[in-house]
Amino acid sequence: MKILVVGSSNTDHFIRLKSLPKPGETVSGGIYYSGLGGKGANQAVAARRLGSEVSFVCKLGKDAQGEAARQSFEQEGLDTSYVFSTDGLHSGVAFILVDEQAENSIAVAAGANSDLMPEDIDRIGNIQDYRVILTSLEIPMETVRHLSGVARRHGIPLILNPAPAPKEPLPPDILAAATIVTPNETEISTLSGVPVHDEGTAVQAASAFRALGAREIVVTLGQKGALVSDGRPGTEMIPSFSVPAIDTTGAGDIFNAALAVGLAERMDLRKAVRFAAAASAISVTRHGAMPSAPFRKEVEHFLATH
Ligand code: RIB
Repeated sequence: MKILVVGSSNTDHFIRLKSLPKPGETVSGGIYYSGLGGKGANQAVAARRLGSEVSFVCKLGKDAQGEAARQSFEQEGLDTSYVFSTDGLHSGVAFILVDEQAENSIAVAAGANSDLMPEDIDRIGNIQDYRVILTSLEIPMETVRHLSGVARRHGIPLILNPAPAPKEPLPPDILAAATIVTPNETEISTLSGVPVHDEGTAVQAASAFRALGAREIVVTLGQKGALVSDGRPGTEMIPSFSVPAIDTTGAGDIFNAALAVGLAERMDLRKAVRFAAAASAISVTRHGAMPSAPFRKEVEHFLATH
């Protein structure tokens, strides 16, 4: 059972603070730590820790950070055959501020991630061997478009996590090719044109998004849960787990990874969403993005005890 993850790799530099600075303000007294991140890398490593075989497709710079990322992917047991590198661009970097309420604010310099091109997707061998493809939007849209066409031609389910929030609606051909789209509250507001602030507006936004061509939608609403809108009449809210959150960075990535693992294991969508909710609940009780991704045994124990 293999999953293909196509996406970004970053080095994350965190500062944990009492409160996030406003523009022009300096907030001192922070605690610094760093680790690997990037939505694609977080998803790939999380899916591997949850028990799938994972091939990760990304582009790194030819620098120390890129080398460290590659080594770490190997140690995690990812297939790195399609971890490419490029001259003249640095590996991706993110600066992340996290406050005492577990809120964050993220600035990203894409570097080599912006050079992951459609031709790189054509370098992937035996694509028909993958049960699920997972991608997100920290790589060029033309690459996401090309990947979505490849997934459709091979009949492989594609999970499109439209993160970070796009500035404008998704191109209709990409939307039509994605089997499941997994926006959060902010993302679906942009994608559907319906501002979301509660379950009712999320239902309206999901319906507007389906009218635009989305097939199955899972809207992640943080502590409120995840709203599933698929071919069945109506929508269903899968509740989240109540946990003491200290850092939500990467929680969406881990949710998407677990969803991909569940679907690759042929769980039905609602069961896969519950599995994903458990994995992301564990992650928010830990600091960092990739380091917070749980292992399969932890998720099984969590589900058995909650
Ligand atoms: O989703 C969290 C990720 O967003 C971080 O790891 C950071 O690298 C940014 O890409």
